[in-house]
Amino acid sequence: MMNFKYGYPLNFQKWLGEHEHLLKPPVGNQQIWADGDFMVTVVGGPNQRSDFHDDPVEEFFYQFKGNAYLLIWDRGQYERVHLKEGDMFLQAPHVKHSPQRPEAGSLCLVIERQRPLGSKDALQWCCARCGSLVRRYEMQLESIVADLPPVYEQFYATADAERTCQSCGEVHPGRDFEAWHRTLNQHFPEQ
Ligand SMILES: [Fe+2]
Repeated sequence: MMNFKYGYPLNFQKWLGEHEHLLKPPVGNQQIWADGDFMVTVVGGPNQRSDFHDDPVEEFFYQFKGNAYLLIWDRGQYERVHLKEGDMFLQAPHVKHSPQRPEAGSLCLVIERQRPLGSKDALQWCCARCGSLVRRYEMQLESIVADLPPVYEQFYATADAERTCQSCGEVHPGRDFEAWHRTLNQHFPEQ
């Protein structure tokens, strides 16, 4: 028997069955192999959010069960990119994206690489009324599990004044992603 760093092939359906309970709230995602250069993750719904991720590396999506969409932000403009069941999408580095997974039981295979030193990730929050950037936090990401939650907490802990849009005066609702989406749908109707 060879000693493969990541073990022998595993059966995806079997793996899904064994991790089903973790692929829904409150956890919602699981990485298949620890410590690989490829971070292969399965992400389940329901999960919605208001943060945008700026990833310095490519991300591969395969929406193999149910439907989801990526809300994309590009210099003040929003676009919904639908990931319908069976769709694959290869996203270029630095596309600001906010995955929206409204369907319970939906499943998506996501693959991204470890970040080379000096290639920084960022999380940013944008104005749902006018599209302006409200706050942005950059970080050298070493662990998806450990490095992101403190950034959310840092943003959620800001005072209203720090979340007030410099362009239109709208106060970003912070942790309340539902309120943020309501305002977005008002000003940037569903496509
Ligand atoms: Fe604004």
